[in-house]
Amino acid sequence: PYFGCITGRYCNRIANGKFLLEGKEYQLAKNNGPHHLHGGNVGFDKVVWQAKEIRRDNAVGLELTRRSPDGEEGYPGNLDVTVRYLVTDNAELVIEYEATTDKTTHVNLTNHTYFNLGGIKGGTILDHELQLWAGSITPTDETLIPTGKIQPVKGTPFDFTASKPIGQDIARTGGNPSGYDINYVIDRQDGPGLPRAAKVRDPKSGRTLEVSTSEPGVQLYTGNFLDGSIVGKGGVAYQKHFGFCLETQHFPDSPNQPDFPTTALKPGQRYHSKTVYRFGTSK
Ligand code: GLA
Repeated sequence: PYFGCITGRYCNRIANGKFLLEGKEYQLAKNNGPHHLHGGNVGFDKVVWQAKEIRRDNAVGLELTRRSPDGEEGYPGNLDVTVRYLVTDNAELVIEYEATTDKTTHVNLTNHTYFNLGGIKGGTILDHELQLWAGSITPTDETLIPTGKIQPVKGTPFDFTASKPIGQDIARTGGNPSGYDINYVIDRQDGPGLPRAAKVRDPKSGRTLEVSTSEPGVQLYTGNFLDGSIVGKGGVAYQKHFGFCLETQHFPDSPNQPDFPTTALKPGQRYHSKTVYRFGTSK
């Protein structure tokens, strides 16, 4: 289920695991029916990274580095990746991602943490109140591949522009298994600071989580595939909807969608992405 991991080289799906890049067709590993998901059979979540401690004025953390070799899971180019996790004095978890390549490739990195603001024994997250700074989604077909459209959420169960419980309209989302598993297009926000993507509040504990990001999209995934077969901390079996993910990202299947922001990275360019998870409390 990708609990807590770095997801890459390309998080989310690439249709049929294929793309055309600079005139050459690449075939990636197919690990999700006919499609490529979260980097393939051995994605960035299933490898050992080099780790070192980092200390900054207001933060401590971990710097993870790794070279993803040319051809890994079918991707072109040696990709040198750095991911930094920082815990700040401001109750934030900051994740910074950087990458460079020696051949043009596609990169899309995220973190796949499942949150439950009620704690390990919190049950489902259906009562958590969610607000998203996103007026549209990239709708998908039944295999979760984007159709290429950008669709306003107004008047649909996908509308979180005003805060509402995650479970309020979840029965009307469709899909198999049912629940939210969709990429939101984050609203353009001018002004200083990272754009806001989401705010979540657990009404029982009053705990809050705010997410801001440099990425254009965020996948809202409500743990639809969890079925109780995995037992975690405190002997708790993770049932459907026991956690939610807010995976900041470029849009799924961008390599095959010319109208989506590009995920191509060329030699000499530097991939950079930053997401801040800020924790708090409110009555
Ligand atoms: C992402 C996908 C989901 C699912 C989970 C992992 O969030 O969008 O469809 O694959 O990862 O279970």
